[in-house]
Amino acid sequence: MSGYVEIFEVGPRDGLQNEKRQIPTAEKIALVNCLSEAGFKRIEIASFVSPKWVPQMADSADVLAGIMRAEGVSYAALTPNLRGFEGALAAKADEIAIFGSASEGFSKANINATVAESLERFAPVAEAAKAVGLPMRGYISCVTDCPYDGATAPEAVARVAKALHEMGCYEISLGDTIGQARPETIDAMLAAVLEEMPASELAGHYHDTSGRALSNIEASLARGVRVFDAAVGGLGGCPYAPGAAGNVATEAVHDRLVELGYETGLDRAVLIRAADMARAMRKEQDNV
Ligand code: HMG
Ligand code: MG
Repeated sequence: MSGYVEIFEVGPRDGLQNEKRQIPTAEKIALVNCLSEAGFKRIEIASFVSPKWVPQMADSADVLAGIMRAEGVSYAALTPNLRGFEGALAAKADEIAIFGSASEGFSKANINATVAESLERFAPVAEAAKAVGLPMRGYISCVTDCPYDGATAPEAVARVAKALHEMGCYEISLGDTIGQARPETIDAMLAAVLEEMPASELAGHYHDTSGRALSNIEASLARGVRVFDAAVGGLGGCPYAPGAAGNVATEAVHDRLVELGYETGLDRAVLIRAADMARAMRKEQDNV
């Protein structure tokens, strides 16, 4: 195997959104500044959601204002609605992401909308992003399993993927939100989604609750997927997915990809430094 595989770093958003302790903004900025030296093209660092729902992300504008922006790195933010979009634009995020679910139960728990309502809510965000030329990514949660509804039908994922794609998402990130996927279920899900769009417009976003994220990445590589989301130090989870452990650790994905013969363009020493910082943040939390 050879070629470039991109790791999309999501630790400062997907990781830190789930920490119980309110992490000081300066610590978040220090982590992002360290990650900016590692060679990532994209780092998700902010989320313009309701602070009542996710207080951990309430300082997103300050994080975007405080970081040292490295050349060639796109700093991304989640935007669930127009208000979030306006926040991200004002804070000068380089790209945004809308986030939906393939399952009704998680959609309701996470963004207080049915899947259909969420797509209606995303439409004006997509229009606004297009109007100012801001790249927009799309997430789909619960692509194989939902903590509320059980197994997800691959066709349900394909339907939402098609809708997000038609709205203008340049890439769809497929989330195993609760880390219950298996290589077989990932493969079946990808087969359905690939009927709607090419692998070059997909990313895998796998949480590592069951320790199968790396196997699921390998199953996705076999289907042609070449972008994977990961969080340095294995930070994170999702506040609305009970039991969800962290994202697969960036350094573990990097090492597996290198073992398999792929290039990631990342500096491992910097990754380890960032992973140490991330783990120290978590340790401090465990002590409080
Ligand atoms: P709602 O209650 O239905 O909406 O929430 P609302 O419009 O009635 O607003 C409720 C309150 O939030 C109001 O304030 C609004 O002003 C405020 P109040 O009047 O009560 O004082 N509000 C906002 N404030 C700041 N920024 C905004 C905003 N919008 C409304 N943008 C809503 C709907 C979507 C807002 C809410 O459900 C929400 O914020 N959900 C976010 C949940 C979240 O962030 N989850 C984690 C990210 S997703 C994830 O981790 C999965 C992923 O990693 C992939 C995977 O692993 O599967 C991406
Ligand atoms: Mg996630």
